[in-house]
Amino acid sequence: MTCWQISSFDKIYIVRCAYSQAREKSVSLEALQARKKEKRRMEFTHIPVLAEECMEGLNIRPDGIYIDGTAGGGGHSYLIASRLSNKGRLISLDRDPDAIAAATERLSEFGNAQVVHSNYSQLRRVLDEMEIDAVDGILMDLGVSSYQLDEGSRGFSYHLDAPLDMRMSKEGMSAADIVNTYSEQELARIIFEYGEEKFSRRIAGNIVKERAVRPVETTSQLADIIRNSVPQKARREKNPCKKTFQAIRIAVNGELEHLSHGLDDAFSSLKAGGRLAVITFHSLEDRLVKQRFAGWCRGCICPPDFPQCVCGRKPQGNLVNRKPIEANEKELERNNRSRSAKLRVIERSAEADG
Ligand SMILES: C[S@@+](CC[C@H](N)C(=O)[O-])C[C@H]1O[C@@H](n2cnc3c(N)ncnc32)[C@H](O)[C@@H]1O
Repeated sequence: MTCWQISSFDKIYIVRCAYSQAREKSVSLEALQARKKEKRRMEFTHIPVLAEECMEGLNIRPDGIYIDGTAGGGGHSYLIASRLSNKGRLISLDRDPDAIAAATERLSEFGNAQVVHSNYSQLRRVLDEMEIDAVDGILMDLGVSSYQLDEGSRGFSYHLDAPLDMRMSKEGMSAADIVNTYSEQELARIIFEYGEEKFSRRIAGNIVKERAVRPVETTSQLADIIRNSVPQKARREKNPCKKTFQAIRIAVNGELEHLSHGLDDAFSSLKAGGRLAVITFHSLEDRLVKQRFAGWCRGCICPPDFPQCVCGRKPQGNLVNRKPIEANEKELERNNRSRSAKLRVIERSAEADG
């Protein structure tokens, strides 16, 4: 197993990760114990969502090349790697360095699996660097992992008091930077557009009032502001923090921009007959995926009153399932996270290359 690191936007460089370097050296007992402790701490408890449905959707060819764009704890990656022959290849990407460490560990038994520290929006660059033209299948399991949510220090969860961070890549602007520096209008826009929160203006107004007194630096502070901004009734129905936390997380990580770019890179990197499977967890992601897939499946775009087609456009892909696949009762009982999951799969057609 190899682990590569590819910088997000600048010059591409490749380094062996600390894990494989340490493996080659003899290590002291103390270092070994520290590593074991770290490994346990890092253990991702993430249960792969719609696991069997994803494997079926990808229609894995044992000798094929597969990409997991969101390696996380390596759950889906492990299932893909287990289905490959020695000639097959798996490349698993994640932008989170903690996920890279976990996936590297999880996939260490596979000689044909590589873990790459990269944003999936850089997929084409990663493949070019590896001199790979096209692949047989790509999986994207969007959003945050259970690990990211449960690890308080990452600041994703409104259930845990922690610094307001939410950066998947641990780089760039944090949630606290956004909350403390963006204008009231911009905060209201983010909370409304990315959280679909109808009390967005009130919440943004109260953030600005609070930060005039002291900076908003923790998840609890933000959660209190949100709770005090929504009417009693809304507080009772659902956790009122969910939408605003989602909105700020999307803004911090530029999630929709990366998804839009990543989908294009992924679909154009498929061989004819190759498949792209995407799991979404909220309506904004799902709408984007649904519309992009529909665009690729569209043939003629001539006005309806034209007697015959003059555009000559052929569909570039075919939907594998008309409707998105959702978790069945059994999975819902086992894994609450699967509740909002929707899986869509598209197959690239031969015409796309013509
Ligand atoms: C839901 S988890 C994936 C879990 C994984 N499928 C598993 O079975 O363990 C989503 C992962 O995607 C990563 N991620 C989100 N956006 C990303 C992006 N634009 N590029 C690369 N990784 C991303 C997150 O850091 C997180 O680890």
